Amino acid sequence: MEYSEVLNRARELVHEKCKVCKECNGVVCKGQVPGVGGKGSGSSFIRNWQKIQDVKINLDTIIEESPIDTSIELFGQKFTYPVFAAPIGAVGLNYSPALDDFEYTKAIIGGCKEAGVIGFTGDGVKDEFYDLPLQVVKENNGHGIPTIKPWKKEEIIAKIKKAEENGAPAVAMDIDAAGLVTLALLGKPVGTKSIEDLKEIISSTKLPVILKGVMTVEGAKKALKAGAYGIVVSNHGGRVLDHTPATIEVLPAIADAVKGRMKIFVDGGFRTGLDIFKAIALGADAVLIGRPYAVAAYGGGAEGVKVYTEKIGNELKETMIMAGCHNLADIKRDRVFL
Ligand SMILES: Cc1cc2nc3c(=O)[nH]c(=O)nc-3n(C[C@H](O)[C@H](O)[C@H](O)COP(=O)(O)O)c2cc1C
Repeated sequence: MEYSEVLNRARELVHEKCKVCKECNGVVCKGQVPGVGGKGSGSSFIRNWQKIQDVKINLDTIIEESPIDTSIELFGQKFTYPVFAAPIGAVGLNYSPALDDFEYTKAIIGGCKEAGVIGFTGDGVKDEFYDLPLQVVKENNGHGIPTIKPWKKEEIIAKIKKAEENGAPAVAMDIDAAGLVTLALLGKPVGTKSIEDLKEIISSTKLPVILKGVMTVEGAKKALKAGAYGIVVSNHGGRVLDHTPATIEVLPAIADAVKGRMKIFVDGGFRTGLDIFKAIALGADAVLIGRPYAVAAYGGGAEGVKVYTEKIGNELKETMIMAGCHNLADIKRDRVFL
């Protein structure tokens, strides 16, 4: 299956909510939440994408020839590329009922597994929004990272236990969903968490815990203090707060503060292998991608997800050759031009 075919098929299925634009940059869909856009003016999503375009790559091919290694090790597992599918919840509502959360997760987890990477799964107001994706993780021998909303502590801890029982290698929590009043209106309040709350949650499990939705140096230091395995530098794809900086803008200072002491993931507007290269150069260990993975899952199921992953993986490889890098550790800050 060609990637162009994946995009065309997706367009037919999701066109009411997502136009599958040539550049997935948040302009056409701005303000559409529910839907696929960024909140309010859409500026947080738009800026995420725009600021990545502003980073340029330094070309240098005067280096000995040797094999290019794009692999990364996390939670004791080796992945082919430093790229992961971000959690996308309530796909029926946000994209199209052509897939429900179960079928969607099957496409994401199956395709990621075949391409040698891993996908994060979502959570929501109904138990099934967490349980069905988790069932897919179990059916794939634990190949998936459940992402839990910042519910009350007891519920988070119970959901982490379920993740352990189903063989997940790690869990994540989208702490930046703390302000989602829609969930409270539906009778399931979420809320902010103190360092003490997070310590209690993190120490309830042996699984590595990733905190998703950190946008400041101070926030990263607090996550480290709480014992997190890693953070996702993320503004939830611009869906939780209007007028944030772009994730690529805040990444370098966060990396300066905590790199090497915890894993740093980043997401928001990353689309291509060149974008992944830029993220790693500016301090990320790995990148999460949201909307393009959703389009790939609608357009081609697990195969679409695999095709997209391999496409951006090859782009990363090509970029590494052109910038004189043999492995991810070679992708240092001096490889980009700001
Ligand atoms: C429709 C939609 C639903 C999402 N649902 C969730 C979710 O349930 N949990 C979560 O942690 N993040 C969720 N996100 C945010 C993504 O995980 C990710 O942070 C964001 O999409 C990254 O930006 P990108 O789409 O520009 O790559 C959602 C994003 C979209 C577009």
